Amino acid sequence: MSEKPRILTGDTPTGQLHLGHWVGSLENRVALIDDYECFFLIANMHAFTTRADQPEGIRRSTLDIVKDWIACGMDPEKSTFVVQTEIPGIAELTWYLAMLLPFNRVMRNPTLKSELEDKGLGDNYSFGFPMYSVGQCADILVFRPELVPVGEDQLAHIEPCREVARRFNQLYCKVDPHTEDDEYVKAGGLFPIPEGKVGRVARLIGTDGKHKMSKSLNNAIFLTDTFKQIKKKLGGLYTGRQTMDEPGDINNALFQYVRAFIRDEERVKELEEAYSKGDNIGDGHIKVEVAEHIDRLLEPMRARRAPYEGEQGDAKVLEILREHTRKANAAAEETLQLAKEAMGLDFGKRSLLFE
Ligand code: TRP
Repeated sequence: MSEKPRILTGDTPTGQLHLGHWVGSLENRVALIDDYECFFLIANMHAFTTRADQPEGIRRSTLDIVKDWIACGMDPEKSTFVVQTEIPGIAELTWYLAMLLPFNRVMRNPTLKSELEDKGLGDNYSFGFPMYSVGQCADILVFRPELVPVGEDQLAHIEPCREVARRFNQLYCKVDPHTEDDEYVKAGGLFPIPEGKVGRVARLIGTDGKHKMSKSLNNAIFLTDTFKQIKKKLGGLYTGRQTMDEPGDINNALFQYVRAFIRDEERVKELEEAYSKGDNIGDGHIKVEVAEHIDRLLEPMRARRAPYEGEQGDAKVLEILREHTRKANAAAEETLQLAKEAMGLDFGKRSLLFE
């Protein structure tokens, strides 16, 4: 087993990844890949909680997300990709953890609530839908990570995960409830209390200038977009400014992009000063400059993605996933064995066979 501390994080395969994912979480994953033993999860079981009628789409998106990851620099040689449905230990641990979370606590989760609203689900959601939030605790804890790099909206899922980890350690590993969070394992607990880590830009605004960037709101710049597409999407970003000498608001949506994607502090300052004074600088010009920076960010991604295009690329991805499934199950099974022993469920040992 690796000596490095672990990371677990992941994405739900309901569509391609975009710049909001990049600044919120992907960028952190790439930056941390050498210092942590990384497990990256494709939460395809969770995709079924809202799209049980679309298995083909979920399968397609599962493979596409792996391609997005590799394109980003999440190197499959340095990390383990985990297909959720291939890890029986996750579903099994979900059951045990579900007993340690009050039902009302699960339903009060603000991220869960806003999803119900955004998707217009009303009272018409499956029993499985809120289960995904307990499942997310199991996704994380089965790998016993220290760190979970996520977008801001996911922090509401990390909190119950921390609660459930403490409770398990207290109940079944007899750890004193007064123990500090970072001392639980030393005190005999099975699970470290994992910490969330939000990216450089917690919440990237979409190209509609209003809502958080999201595929379903049609305001996203995808990692696969061309320079032309990026320019067009940014071109439509409304600022309300009319002329080049009108003082502009440097807290508007356009300047969120300036600060997120022009990684040259002096240039950002220069632009902010000129803009706020209305010093002969047009929105259109700034948009093109931002588009160029985004394009430069995506350029190496296009190169890394190229060998994985098309059906042959799919086959390569499947091969990677098959190999990684073994590694992921080895880690998950170890946790399940220990968890069940702690719960007095040590009736036997099993080994999973994957071919
Ligand atoms: N719910 C997350 C999302 O939609 C994906 C996810 C599933 C996840 N399980 C996880 C993220 C565990 C971090 C840790 O973005």
